[in-house]
Amino acid sequence: MKLIRTENYTEMSLEAGKIIVDKIRTNPSLTLGLATGSSPKGVYDYLIQDHEENETTYKQVKSVNLDEYIGLSTEDPNSYHYFMNQTLFKHLDINDNQTHIPNGAASDLEQECLRYEQLIKELGGIDLQLLGIGQNGHIGFNEPGTPFTSTTHIVTLAQNTREANSRFFNSLEEVPTHAITMGIASILKSKEILLLVSGERKAEALYKFVNGEISEEFPASALKYHSNVTVIADRDALKYI
Ligand code: GLP
Repeated sequence: MKLIRTENYTEMSLEAGKIIVDKIRTNPSLTLGLATGSSPKGVYDYLIQDHEENETTYKQVKSVNLDEYIGLSTEDPNSYHYFMNQTLFKHLDINDNQTHIPNGAASDLEQECLRYEQLIKELGGIDLQLLGIGQNGHIGFNEPGTPFTSTTHIVTLAQNTREANSRFFNSLEEVPTHAITMGIASILKSKEILLLVSGERKAEALYKFVNGEISEEFPASALKYHSNVTVIADRDALKYI
């Protein structure tokens, strides 16, 4: 595992952004694994700016997102579909039909999980997966206790995850109780992984990730089984390291 130490969120985003742009320029038909939340937002801003200034093209790039809430329509401002369109896709020249996010409004959710896992396979796997980490160590929406062998599946969100994400909703009650997420095994199949960790509220999780044991009780620890993980963290997140 490689650790890149940065001063702050902006520098973390810049480092990650540069790595991604470099990969796209080397392999213009890359399959990118994307994440939502506050952690990757700055990286997306960097990709948009680079696209505008340096004309990096996404015409052949494919993307697969980690997860989606169950029960929100794709137009719901709190859905990850909406987040991805607003914060990234609509600003790039990426083809709509080459961006993929689990459908949390599917009528047959079990079937949707199988479809999504098959889709990743058909795309030839993920070349570069961007990840954030939850305060409880979750990656995607894989909550503590998720088997490391899991593929795309339906999850019941942990109470502290719903509380953490309630900042995007009007109230805690509005935060969905379930989600679809790529599994730990799906994530570990990516050829390369970039984990972004920013802010003091993630300091304890990052400490556990770096120093703790590998355990299904701390989902991110599975990344230690992967041979190409780069952690990009800022000073506040590195408080205990
Ligand atoms: C969310 C997402 C994860 C994300 C994590 C951290 O619940 N499902 O994919 O990495 O929690 O979010 P943030 O980056 O906003 O702190």
